[in-house]
Amino acid sequence: MDKKILAISLVGLSASALVACSDSSTEKFDSNGTKEVKVGILQYMEHESLDAAREGFMAELKANGYKEGDNITVDYQNAQGDQANLQTISEQLVGDNDVILAIATPAAQSLATVSTDVPVLFTAVTDPVSAELVDSMDKPDGLLTGTSDQAPIDKQIELLGQALPDAKKVGILYTTSERNSEAQVEQAEKLLKNAGYEVELKGITSTNDVQDATTSLMKDVDAVFVPTDNTVASTMTMIGELSIEHKVPVIGGATDMVDAGGLLTYGTNYEALGHQTAKMAVKVLEGADPAELSVEYPETVDLHVNQEIADKLGINVSKLSVSK
Ligand code: TRP
Repeated sequence: MDKKILAISLVGLSASALVACSDSSTEKFDSNGTKEVKVGILQYMEHESLDAAREGFMAELKANGYKEGDNITVDYQNAQGDQANLQTISEQLVGDNDVILAIATPAAQSLATVSTDVPVLFTAVTDPVSAELVDSMDKPDGLLTGTSDQAPIDKQIELLGQALPDAKKVGILYTTSERNSEAQVEQAEKLLKNAGYEVELKGITSTNDVQDATTSLMKDVDAVFVPTDNTVASTMTMIGELSIEHKVPVIGGATDMVDAGGLLTYGTNYEALGHQTAKMAVKVLEGADPAELSVEYPETVDLHVNQEIADKLGINVSKLSVSK
């Protein structure tokens, strides 16, 4: 039996995918003669939801028999929110791996421009179509597929109404250059207006703008809605302090944004999303064509309240419920 056939019989299905996905330059056999899968991970920046997605992904790979130090090597790289890093790391990962996980929109966009043959699974990407990662959610039609983290904004607004029955004017704070926010802002604005709210949009270009923009917005509105915006997320602690100071609650975004200073959200469970994405990655490693694998929405979404903020703002959050 030659070495390759032995390897295939040892790891079964996954090995056949390996042979399909890898070129000879990346093929490597460990001491047992088992083919090692090489997985690259490019995470846009460090924040809790992105970390949780990565951890969920790794746990699910493990549950599917891919164990680090055994039959899989993982090269995890974090771009620290920097565009130049994204480019450099993308090039390096594409040269070295059988499949790559991209975490957050900018990471996926960067890999999309660099990869010519390595499949890329993405996660925590709000709108993969408008980010031009896939042709459509049902049929991606290229090397990329994965999971969107879009939580139901209509439910978030329903909760806003329950928690703040007297609110009339809602501000939306977002970063103008973030594609992921643009789509959410459009949707939120429409839904808020349909629900009878007056809406004020406030776009920022960097973290430097957050303090002034939030302060002026909060002077004008009864509540602030935030999308899952990377820049806003990284300054949520400051936004939370302003929220207390101006007595204007912040709704929306992701659960970790709420923990850092928001009032509530109905948000994606990122760890579960990572698991969902790894199940897709396993299919790709076993030979599925990413072009044919539909993009998935989150299966697990949680109502999440920051009780400390609720208490400080004097808001009763004990009777919130989300309609089916
Ligand atoms: N959805 C964002 C994107 O597409 C990434 C993201 C995930 C995020 N969770 C978040 C951003 C929480 C801000 C806050 O890039």
